Amino acid sequence: MIKFSNKAALGNVICGQEIDSLMPEARKALEKLENGTGAGNDFIGWVNLPSGISEQSLSQIQEVANSLRETCEFVVTIGIGGSYLGAKAVIEALSDNFAAYKPAGTKVLFAGNNIGEDYLHDLMELLRERRFGIIVISKSGTTTEPAIAFRLLKDLLEKQVGKKVAAQRIVAITDEHKGALRNLATQEGYKTFVIPSNVGGRFSVLTPVGLLPIAVAGFDVRALVNGAINIEKADNELVLNYAATRNALYRAGKKTEILVNYNPKLHFFAEWWKQLYGESEGKENKGIFTASVDFTTDLHSMGQWIQEGERTIFETVISVEKADNEVRIPYDDANLDALNYIAGKRVDEVNKMAELGTRLAHQDGGVPNLLIQVPEISEKYLGQLIYFFEKACGVSGYILNVNPFNQPGVEAYKKNMFALLKKPGFEAESEAILARLDK
Ligand code: PA5
Repeated sequence: MIKFSNKAALGNVICGQEIDSLMPEARKALEKLENGTGAGNDFIGWVNLPSGISEQSLSQIQEVANSLRETCEFVVTIGIGGSYLGAKAVIEALSDNFAAYKPAGTKVLFAGNNIGEDYLHDLMELLRERRFGIIVISKSGTTTEPAIAFRLLKDLLEKQVGKKVAAQRIVAITDEHKGALRNLATQEGYKTFVIPSNVGGRFSVLTPVGLLPIAVAGFDVRALVNGAINIEKADNELVLNYAATRNALYRAGKKTEILVNYNPKLHFFAEWWKQLYGESEGKENKGIFTASVDFTTDLHSMGQWIQEGERTIFETVISVEKADNEVRIPYDDANLDALNYIAGKRVDEVNKMAELGTRLAHQDGGVPNLLIQVPEISEKYLGQLIYFFEKACGVSGYILNVNPFNQPGVEAYKKNMFALLKKPGFEAESEAILARLDK
């Protein structure tokens, strides 16, 4: 089981007492979440989701994944925000670091998470002569970025294999009833999966949104879900401790939380985490800013700032106990690089010493360090981490007294973009924004 510790962490910033005194608030927040009495309670379907996933739905997901794996070299997962980050995080964490250069197996690619013309151009060039399929994901069914990517790739696929075969290689994941994507999927006869209406995007990785691409990539979605169930069924002490500690630190002026990893495979897990907490808590002019670093890589860039910059940060370190593979540093007679003092050691032993040394240095530098220990990177422990962070996010948002399940701020850029693009229905905004630009 994953473990959470704040013991060695608090330095002289806060003490255990301050966390203890926040515990009653954390317990109340948990009650609200579990009883559905808090803000945004129509979006808490994820709380009991892992144990509610039936064998039948997992089998259906696996079946569709198998059929895409049999027919396609590439499956492009189209989606943005919560509609892609969970799948990307898990697939990256479980994949060989150089999977892209190793031919075996169906590759899952991502699109619709940016509006980069060169990105889409290069992707279409790659897919032009290849067997590919598409998983298009949008809960609202109307998000611009994935809609553009889907229009382009659907067109490419239909030109390549004809409309009928294309329809067999496209899967849509969206709301059960509403949205442009639902209508399009019905019209075109695509296979579809439903995003439950009471599960928001960033809490949806354990629905088909995350599970289907992860299964297409060849990973064990049952084990992932079982990992999440471990935490769902455990007592809530881990969750309460993390939520209370980060809020105690926030109240003590620590406004930024940096998620730290020592394994490059966790880079996108941190991206998922940043979105989960950033979009859930950053509202009403409140909320911890979520950042992330990959160590030791970033010790040679942001490490300086973390050690000696403004003291408004704390770190949450994901520490993976066991590397998957063993690589030992060889002995060299000439020792011209002066490395024989670590000859015979595993690379991971050196990494662990870097981790410990950094934690101590950052604590000495006034950076509280929270620690999450994970036995290994596997489906089971990723499932545990996912549900742990989701539940702690709900609790933490309620401690902060915001609605963790909406994202009203995301609309501001869209309104301006639609006005600038003269989208029908945005004529008034269009005039106003053009007048503003003229000044
Ligand atoms: O967490 C969220 O709700 C958002 O990040 C959404 O997932 C994102 O905006 C994409 O929305 P949709 O799935 O409706 O296209």
